[in-house]
Amino acid sequence: MKGIVFTEFLEMVEEQYGLQTVDYIISHSRLKSQGIYSAIGTYDFIEMQTLIGQLSEKINIPADDLIYTYGLYFFKALTYHHPTVFRSYSDPFEFLASIENHIHVQVRKIYPGAELPSFSILSQDHNKMEMVYSSDRAMYMFAKALMEKSFEYYGKKAHIELIKLNERGTQVKFMISTIQCNNQNKSIS
Ligand code: HEM
Repeated sequence: MKGIVFTEFLEMVEEQYGLQTVDYIISHSRLKSQGIYSAIGTYDFIEMQTLIGQLSEKINIPADDLIYTYGLYFFKALTYHHPTVFRSYSDPFEFLASIENHIHVQVRKIYPGAELPSFSILSQDHNKMEMVYSSDRAMYMFAKALMEKSFEYYGKKAHIELIKLNERGTQVKFMISTIQCNNQNKSIS
């Protein structure tokens, strides 16, 4: 897993729970890296799992919820570091549909050694889409958060349901549909 995923995670933990919590989870995790990450380095995914597990125990929040919150936070880093990727799309469905064949393909070039999920699209039209997430890392709640944020980025809102296709969640089906916002201004007569 790339260092940026660790550095952003520890930054979020510091912002939301304080530096003491960062020190606590690192010192209770027995990490090969000793918790020293460089944004461009590559580290074992098990370290991320361990850090999330420690945080989950310490603050008593399920790991899946923390991964989801982390996805919401990580989105900011994506838009900050890769603004042109976002600007080259205008529709969130087109954007999500291109992760597999465009976005993560470019990511592999920029971040050698990146471990990325794969997405296969089952159906897509202008207001709904079904896709299957596959990854040994089972970070489907991270995917859900990034999807929600992508809709928000393009000024839309989506309802996202998921079904785990196996117990660990290494394969997860997403059903995404837009929510119509009723923004009509009512004039006072
Ligand atoms: C400009 C857009 C994007 C960029 C630059 C980007 C880049 C990355 C990077 C660098 C990683 C970490 C890889 C590693 O640590 O080895 C990652 C992981 C991931 N990305 Fe993307 N990503 C983008 C958009 C998205 C979107 C919209 C989704 C939503 C579905 C997504 C889903 C994921 C997931 C779920 C992971 C975690 C790894 C896993 O599940 O196997 N990405 N991405």
